[in-house]
Amino acid sequence: MSDPVIIFNDVSKSYPMYHHITGGIKNFIFHISKGIDSLKNKRYEVFRNISFAIEKGETFGIIGKNGAGKSTVLGLIARVLLPSDGKIEVDGRVSPLLELGAGFHPDLSGRENIMLNGVLMGLTRKDVEQRMEEIIDFSELQQFIDQPIRVYSSGMLARLGFSVIAHLDPDILLVDEILAVGDLEFQKKCIAKMEEFKKQGITIVFVSHSMANVEKICDRVMWIENHEARTIGDPGSTISRYTEEKQKAL
Ligand SMILES: Nc1ncnc2c1ncn2[C@@H]1O[C@H](COP(=O)(O)OP(=O)(O)OP(=O)(O)O)[C@@H](O)[C@H]1O
Ligand SMILES: [Mg+2]
Repeated sequence: MSDPVIIFNDVSKSYPMYHHITGGIKNFIFHISKGIDSLKNKRYEVFRNISFAIEKGETFGIIGKNGAGKSTVLGLIARVLLPSDGKIEVDGRVSPLLELGAGFHPDLSGRENIMLNGVLMGLTRKDVEQRMEEIIDFSELQQFIDQPIRVYSSGMLARLGFSVIAHLDPDILLVDEILAVGDLEFQKKCIAKMEEFKKQGITIVFVSHSMANVEKICDRVMWIENHEARTIGDPGSTISRYTEEKQKAL
């Protein structure tokens, strides 16, 4: 029986064009009034009319080149972004999107950031405290856990991010390219953890540039290209069409 927990109905997302000064900042400043006029009322469309439904327990992959809008889809699911058009329904507790500037605060320690995110996700302090050691163990960041996270490397931040989202009992787990900056050993650990979640029936939305990992764990894949969902389908054929096209473009 179909039991969708995430539904996108004709969803479009655009930003005001002033976020996208295309002719370079110098050009913009030297021709400021012309620049402002040309930007007024213009919007940059990330994508338009994307529709899909993700079933409970499904692992749904999103692929596409840099800037295609993959992280934007996750932001919309997590409700940190609003669609410009269309309707989104999400049923269940969604893991926070963890990156600096989103769920992570640079001046707080690793431990304090874990607490902050747990509480933001609706857990009690006690719940988070009970899981604290497990989260720290998984991250293998014991030595650094009481340091402010602004001193963390990008791989260390990714470790903290994945450890937090993986231990706070989400119904829907959003994983954005965390594996790219983690070392090989941590990547393996993350994939194993995601496979465990899959078995438990947790819904996962996985964004990655590693086609091998996407193919390994996803049940279905959406390829975003040229502001649209090019295909939503079976991982094997979607990925081989995607890689074929990217290779031709080289
Ligand atoms: N806050 C914002 N204001 C304006 N434009 C934005 C904003 N956030 C994202 N964008 C634009 O939206 C587009 C999609 O960005 P997004 O981060 O979703 O891409 P992505 O597919 O995740 O790319 P990557 O593979 O590099 O992570 C980009 O053109 C980006 O410049
Ligand atoms: Mg992204």
